[in-house]
Amino acid sequence: MFTAARKMRGGFFLLGRGLKMRVAIVGATGAVGHELLKVLEASTLQMDELQLYASPRSAGLKLPFAGRELTVRATPEGAIDADVILASAGGSISKEKAPAWVAGGAVVIDNSSAFRYDPEVPLVVPEVNGEAALHHKGIIANPNCTTAIAVVAVAPLHRAYGVKRMIVSTYQATSGAGQKGMEELLDQTRVALGGGDAGASVFAHPIPFNVIPHIDAFQDNGYTKEEMKVVWETRKIIGDESLQISCTAVRIPTLRTHSEAITLELERPATPEQARELLRQAAGVEVRDEPGAKLYPMPLTASGKYDVEVGRIRSSLVFGGGLDLFVAGDQLLKGAALNAVQIAEYLQENGALKARQKAEG
Ligand SMILES: NC(=O)c1ccc[n+]([C@@H]2O[C@H](COP(=O)([O-])OP(=O)(O)OC[C@H]3O[C@@H](n4cnc5c(N)ncnc54)[C@H](OP(=O)(O)O)[C@@H]3O)[C@@H](O)[C@H]2O)c1
Repeated sequence: MFTAARKMRGGFFLLGRGLKMRVAIVGATGAVGHELLKVLEASTLQMDELQLYASPRSAGLKLPFAGRELTVRATPEGAIDADVILASAGGSISKEKAPAWVAGGAVVIDNSSAFRYDPEVPLVVPEVNGEAALHHKGIIANPNCTTAIAVVAVAPLHRAYGVKRMIVSTYQATSGAGQKGMEELLDQTRVALGGGDAGASVFAHPIPFNVIPHIDAFQDNGYTKEEMKVVWETRKIIGDESLQISCTAVRIPTLRTHSEAITLELERPATPEQARELLRQAAGVEVRDEPGAKLYPMPLTASGKYDVEVGRIRSSLVFGGGLDLFVAGDQLLKGAALNAVQIAEYLQENGALKARQKAEG
């Protein structure tokens, strides 16, 4: 299971007997789309055709995949002739087009927030609740990036010690806002270094040399939508609606990888050593926790990595028997592209992804 990281192969497999496993990426030219191409290339997902779609602006663009060049097409109006569609073009596109894709026979793994809170749609992080993916009705949702990274570390602790309350403060990279978020950081840092007025268009304020406690829209309760996504989605993935969660989400001037400080109140006390030992065995986690050697999670070391780094594990000074920890996970990978491909792998490994006879012509 979760082999995407481990085997470098050509990217295409021939299934034979006229059967074709056709995979499509919608949003192939975006920040997540680029990572999907790389993760698929390294994945063991058996497929023999990859179709790339984006907006009409990108039609004709060529992107490298497995030693070939694949041409990007404009996303069509109706169905796409594919068995799996990795949707990564935003919530409105998914909402509008996914029903037609499902009606056309595809399984849609959706990176947007369009279907995450639909009780009929499983919200899946394979290390935590992979089995939920098997009960889909055509659409499987990939969680919000901050949530995916947190639950990889928190779910094993919840299973062993019972998390009662969870307080999260995030340090989120500019690529969380897509390609244009990274461009704004790079462009405006140059402007700011030249003494100019950096201004802001993607973010609410200039991002160079700043931190902004504002990601997505403010809600009536004073929290932002990004913060509430962590609350709603963590409960759905872990399968415990009683979990008390509070989050403060903050944008910082890094290119990729979200970091999170997490405080946990536990039903049964855990020592830092017990938590480290448990997390060393946990899928998708790299314990990086030797403060004396200056080893702890950081975007610099976690970027490009499939595992989520977890460190700074210590006993909470506030909640007796509870824990404080710090995590850093590449949100374009575990928070998006990697998790989506792992869901597809999980379905295939469990016989739930059927290659179909390709319609000729
Ligand atoms: N960035 C993250 O860390 C992250 C993490 C988890 C989930 N997500 C979600 O993943 C999705 C994509 O995010 P991203 O960061 O990759 O955004 P992005 O860099 O802005 O890329 C957007 C993609 O959507 C395509 N697109 C835009 N309008 C379209 C249209 N009308 N028809 C078809 N395709 C269209 C774009 O194509 P063109 O290049 O042709 O415009 C591009 O390929 C979003 O729903 C986002 O919330 C992102």
